[in-house]
Amino acid sequence: MAKIFLDTANLDEIREARDMGLLDGVTTNPTLMMRAGTADLKANTLKIIEMVDGPVSAEVVSTDTDGMIAEARDILSWAPNVYVKIPTIPSGLKAMKEISSWPNGRRINATLIFSPVQAYMVARAGASFASIFIGRLDDAGLDGMEVVRQTREIFDIYGFDCQVLAASIRHTQHVTQSLLAGADIITLPFDVLQKMSRSPFTDAGLQRFLADWEKVASS
Ligand code: G3P
Repeated sequence: MAKIFLDTANLDEIREARDMGLLDGVTTNPTLMMRAGTADLKANTLKIIEMVDGPVSAEVVSTDTDGMIAEARDILSWAPNVYVKIPTIPSGLKAMKEISSWPNGRRINATLIFSPVQAYMVARAGASFASIFIGRLDDAGLDGMEVVRQTREIFDIYGFDCQVLAASIRHTQHVTQSLLAGADIITLPFDVLQKMSRSPFTDAGLQRFLADWEKVASS
């Protein structure tokens, strides 16, 4: 079964998604922290962890291998369900290789993936999640979902122990297509999660049923 994560650092959104009963984890990044109005990565991540049992990803801001490793050591010590997000760049791959050799080090979410070969590299480097940025590929006139499909196929052919994470989701069609492409995890902005349970046709149909019932009940 595909898991649903929320792609936000906003505590109100996380609480609401949790109460809907459809929250398997949370992904954050520096932009989402900025939108949530916090620069305290640890404090905000710990608040998220209080609400979520599943994986919660927090991203490093260093770009050199040693800096990423030092940040990862700290982030991974916060809680057993915290994952460290590392960018898919050469220094990040080196960091992933080192971090994944630690006893608690498989909790790596490799981020900013835009091609199947990047996904292959992070799987080889020991990441547990490969985050493919579908919407940003589509924005650039490319086919984001094709990267998810090809990555799925490659991971299956070689039996990689790395989950395909569909990220940068823009609309509900991306969710449907990610499910059909065999993504293991889909991380959603809150508005997409809300739209998934609604259709204007459902609202119109319900209105009609209630109006008809009113007619017969009051006759
Ligand atoms: O988790 C990060 C990813 O989902 C970013 O999405 O909307 O900034 O392209 P977006």
